[in-house]
Amino acid sequence: MDKELQLATLGVRAGTVRSQFQEHSEALFLTSSFVFDNAAQAATRFAGSEEGMVYTRYTNPTVAMFQDRLAALEGAQSCVATASGMAAILASALVHLKSGDHVVCSNAVFGATIQLFNNILARFGVETTYVSPTRAEEWQRAVRPTTRLFFLETPSNPLTEVSDIPALAAVAKKAGALLAVDNVFCTPVLQRPLELGADLVIHSATKYLDGQGRVLGGAVAGSKALVGEPMTAFLRTAGPALSPFNAWVLLKGLETLELRMRAQSAAALELARWLERHRSVARVHYPGLESHPQHALAGRQQRAGGSVLSFEVKGGREAAWRVIDATRLMSITANLGDVKTTIIHPATTTHGRISPQARQAAGITDGLVRVAVGLEALADLQADLERGLS
Ligand SMILES: Cc1ncc(COP(=O)(O)O)c(C=O)c1O
Repeated sequence: MDKELQLATLGVRAGTVRSQFQEHSEALFLTSSFVFDNAAQAATRFAGSEEGMVYTRYTNPTVAMFQDRLAALEGAQSCVATASGMAAILASALVHLKSGDHVVCSNAVFGATIQLFNNILARFGVETTYVSPTRAEEWQRAVRPTTRLFFLETPSNPLTEVSDIPALAAVAKKAGALLAVDNVFCTPVLQRPLELGADLVIHSATKYLDGQGRVLGGAVAGSKALVGEPMTAFLRTAGPALSPFNAWVLLKGLETLELRMRAQSAAALELARWLERHRSVARVHYPGLESHPQHALAGRQQRAGGSVLSFEVKGGREAAWRVIDATRLMSITANLGDVKTTIIHPATTTHGRISPQARQAAGITDGLVRVAVGLEALADLQADLERGLS
């Protein structure tokens, strides 16, 4: 597809392949295997000397359409789809790391990512050092001769800290390490990490790529040499493949991604501005606000602030819980990336297992509330929060 096409067009059109029936909506190939014309064709397909479908763990036309559409959106040569976001992170680590290797990771990444590095990859001889997402000098200091991977998420959850992708890409490159960016919060609509110097872009498609909280999925995008060839071979053998049904749902999600990300970001900015003026709110964390410490950086590397914001309610845990419990529209859930707005108290849920001291040091205060803004009318969302704030 034409590389000059804009994101909105790529989200709707890229990757589409029609069957002999010329269907307008992408076909769902709900099949585990594919038949061959004869034994000789089976042999050449298995040997890889003839292109074509073999078995859905290897390739499937619906999954391939999703991969190609997401690759186009990320500006990547290739993309592989996985069963979940965690499977995408695990597959990236297993393909690009070996025993004895060292990882430098932001200390503000998704909790299961930290558990994956600490509880699983550590058993296979991979060591991880955690550093601040915003201080490039800490990443530089953490580098060892064995460092092979830098891993970060930007903006971070729930404080929306923004990492400088080009600066960290330069440190990684000098260290001979790959830079992997979990692009869940921004999606390619708001941020294209490969253009900023990252080597791997990782997605939990479960979030904004679907956008309606229906299916699990994941993906890794990057060059043919780092993603297309080695990761396809890994998935074929190890098996964490995306189901064709989920791929079909995600293809439909990508068609509205541009519209949703722009609308949800615009609503989040308005809500953040309103909260910042509210007398019951001590502080608002949102990259689109002028008061955000990395506002200028976010303006350079993101097209908008995203849909996630967090705010500190005056009065600590009790006041924060009062705001959450007074909502009637917002869903009280840790999930995000949905058109339905979600609200959660990080200190007692997503970050509840961290010691109170570490939590305080990380800025996750007892009064902090996180909201992932959806597509409801802004006035209704304001009224929903006002009930508990006033
Ligand atoms: C930033 C981020 N990365 C990765 C994941 C894991 O994705 P999944 O639940 O699809 O495995 C999540 C899930 O919440 C996430 O928020």
